[in-house]
Amino acid sequence: MRVLITGGAGFLGSHLSDALIARGHEVYVLDTGSIAKVRHLLGEPAFHYIHDSIFNLELLDGLTSKVDLVYHLAAVVGVEHYVADPYETLNVNVNGTQNVLKAAYKYNRRVIFGSTSEVYGRNPKVPWRENDDRVLGATTVDRWCYATSKAVGEHFCFAYHRMGLPVTVLRFFNVYGPRLDHVDVGRVFTIFMGQLLRGADLTIVGDGRQTRCFTYVSDAVEAMVQAGLRPEVNGEVINVGTEEETSILEFAQLMLKLFGPSKSRIRFVNQEEVYGPGYEDIPRRVPDTTKMRTLLGVVPRVSLEEGLRRTIEWFRKEYRQS
Ligand SMILES: NC(=O)c1ccc[n+]([C@@H]2O[C@H](COP(=O)([O-])OP(=O)(O)OC[C@H]3O[C@@H](n4cnc5c(N)ncnc54)[C@H](O)[C@@H]3O)[C@@H](O)[C@H]2O)c1
Repeated sequence: MRVLITGGAGFLGSHLSDALIARGHEVYVLDTGSIAKVRHLLGEPAFHYIHDSIFNLELLDGLTSKVDLVYHLAAVVGVEHYVADPYETLNVNVNGTQNVLKAAYKYNRRVIFGSTSEVYGRNPKVPWRENDDRVLGATTVDRWCYATSKAVGEHFCFAYHRMGLPVTVLRFFNVYGPRLDHVDVGRVFTIFMGQLLRGADLTIVGDGRQTRCFTYVSDAVEAMVQAGLRPEVNGEVINVGTEEETSILEFAQLMLKLFGPSKSRIRFVNQEEVYGPGYEDIPRRVPDTTKMRTLLGVVPRVSLEEGLRRTIEWFRKEYRQS
């Protein structure tokens, strides 16, 4: 297959590119970001890197016309970004998604849309099934713009599906692994990793009892690959994650243990200090993965301990070199 990955130079997109190329497919990456995560693929004849935006409609049209499948992963991701720049979050995640779907519709190309567990908001139900309610806060609280933007993206997917576009929505749950983000920014792993490398304390926002289901990147990539290979999942929305629930405190303790001797300790910080007023954390976030297992045939294989061991190792090497 020829495959277009928007946001393909990001964390998930770079690993998906590796997996698709390893299986003999041809990959076109369209991304405005840094080349760092796909630099190793530049010599591959089956890899094409286009440093541009999903807002370049002519380019998007041309690329879409020549591929068989589109993974739409381009987005503004990460709490610090969506709290700092709600306009850009909404613009890229809503208007950009519409651009991708419009082009795909024009050429009738299948789309796999990368959505998020954030769409469930703070629905207290555990675990979340794909048709569970979305429970979100007020629109005056910027924190909800990411969840809302992704949910609008999903609505657009289903609207286009009703008009005949083959499209599948995947909702990722806290995926981590090598190349995640720069240390000290982005998601909880990279914040803790930066602190560990500097011998600083691991700062837990809130009381540390909030839970997440951390998914190792190879398991998420397998779900993406399988979704791309199975047209029978058109029109479906599927949770992608593990049901192994871990509190942020346990996560920090495990990272400390796996990192080995260090000066770092655990320190609790006030949520408002870190994200400012108006940020609301989600206390528990657990997927029901029945659809992933039955429709995609994917069973998570990498335990948290093993995944963290591999990821810590990768970051250590990476930051020793730089
Ligand atoms: N990693 C996770 O745990 C997770 C969880 C939930 C959802 N997701 C979703 O999966 C997708 C990929 O996430 P990721 O973790 O790889 O994040 P990421 O930030 O590493 O990747 C997103 C990529 O999109 C690119 N991008 C942003 N605006 C663009 C534009 N206008 N045109 C082209 N490219 C643009 C960025 O440069 C970046 O490389 C996102 O849509 C995200 O919402 C990821």
